Amino acid sequence: MRETIGVIGLGYIGLPLAMCLCERGFRVVGIDVDEDKVADIQAGRTDVQEDYLGQTLSQMLQRHIAEGNFVASSRPAVAAWECTTYFVTVGIPVHPETKSLNQQPLLDAMRSLGRVIKPHDLVIIRSTVVPGTVESHCVPLLEETSRMVAGVDFHVAYAAERVAEGRAMEEFQTLDIVAGGLTVRCAALAAQALQKLTDGQVHITDMRVAQLSKVIENAQRDVSLALVYELQEVAKSHHVNLYELIQMVNTHPRVNLLWPSVGVGGYCIPNAYHYLSASLQAERTDLPLFRLARQSNESVPRRIAQGVAESLHQSGRQMATAVVAVLGLGMKDGSNDIRQSPAIRCVEEFRSLGAMVRAYDPFVSPAEPYQVSTVEECLRDADAIVVGAWHNAFDELDWGELFRLVNQAAPVILVDPRGRLEARVLHLNPAPVLQRA
Ligand SMILES: NC(=O)c1ccc[n+]([C@@H]2O[C@H](COP(=O)([O-])OP(=O)(O)OC[C@H]3O[C@@H](n4cnc5c(N)ncnc54)[C@H](O)[C@@H]3O)[C@@H](O)[C@H]2O)c1
Repeated sequence: MRETIGVIGLGYIGLPLAMCLCERGFRVVGIDVDEDKVADIQAGRTDVQEDYLGQTLSQMLQRHIAEGNFVASSRPAVAAWECTTYFVTVGIPVHPETKSLNQQPLLDAMRSLGRVIKPHDLVIIRSTVVPGTVESHCVPLLEETSRMVAGVDFHVAYAAERVAEGRAMEEFQTLDIVAGGLTVRCAALAAQALQKLTDGQVHITDMRVAQLSKVIENAQRDVSLALVYELQEVAKSHHVNLYELIQMVNTHPRVNLLWPSVGVGGYCIPNAYHYLSASLQAERTDLPLFRLARQSNESVPRRIAQGVAESLHQSGRQMATAVVAVLGLGMKDGSNDIRQSPAIRCVEEFRSLGAMVRAYDPFVSPAEPYQVSTVEECLRDADAIVVGAWHNAFDELDWGELFRLVNQAAPVILVDPRGRLEARVLHLNPAPVLQRA
């Protein structure tokens, strides 16, 4: 008989993970507290954008539901009927303004899972956590609610999820996994389960190292991106093209500068510093480099808005009367996930300086007054264009026609960190008059 796996939390990670397990021949019971989300998923609907072998996530979902490989529920007891292994993908949100951590969703998930697990079951926590949380909170809650002893009666392991949204289906199956168990047996059982998911290597380590390594992977990217955003100022001051500079520097085999966008967003990288520093609070250890990188990355949208204001000023225009078009609102290229999206932060910064902002993203549901439903509406009379996130669908647009709509009286101020739009308009005849902010 084939094995059934429980996936707790059906968000941007949990649902694709569930589909990936189905693709690999498992039956999956998915659990989520959000009853509306569960109803949508059971009806085969999801906004999560992942593709695999030519199918969208919704198509995979519909197929696996129809074939009896997947079922979603809001009641963990439904999973307990047939599961002996659980993957937990419930996160710890960070408040966007106060930066306080909300451990409650993960702790609630532990409580409700503890109430239904059975002797010999294996719980693998795949969420990114404040390092130490598994030992200090998750295990005690599982023990309290199950009335069993972790590591003796049931098994607990930690193995952070490392995939990137948009590439999740492939990366679940190819990336190496770092895993730590509460006991040697917990680790061995987790390695066995995880090895059925990935063709990459499962590296077994200490439970604390496993939790720390995930947070440090993300914090390292935060620091590297802060460096690149600072280089943007260096490039500007030397009147050189940052992309050319990065390309040249990266010809060195031991250097790998990252590519900037309009800031650092999403659920992972911006949270890493907060998880890491929270884990050290008791010792009052400061992390000045990580802290500075975070602060610096937080300020990128504001710096972009200020740069556009300066450019407008140079051509006799004012932000307060300018029209700013923002293309793409997702937290990165190709994404409709707007959590901590730097494109949205840019919108807010431009609006706070008095600009009239119009934003177009065909994959983000309209929820804000500045969102428009056509690219034409977005670009009409625009003084500045900000590429917040590039979608493949933008490749198909007739940019020659679209540039006829922008304000023709002065150069269009362009913020196009990866040069996607610029590459599509430079060859036009006549080429639009652009000014990089
Ligand atoms: N999104 C990414 O790119 C990414 C990549 C790698 C790792 N991660 C990590 O994976 C975890 C999940 O991230 P996500 O982006 O999928 O988050 P998400 O918010 O999209 O999904 C979490 C889901 O858990 C559900 N939930 C909350 N409390 C619950 C409970 N008590 N029981 C059951 N379900 C509950 C929520 O309703 C939601 O659907 C986080 O720890 C995150 O840091 C995310």
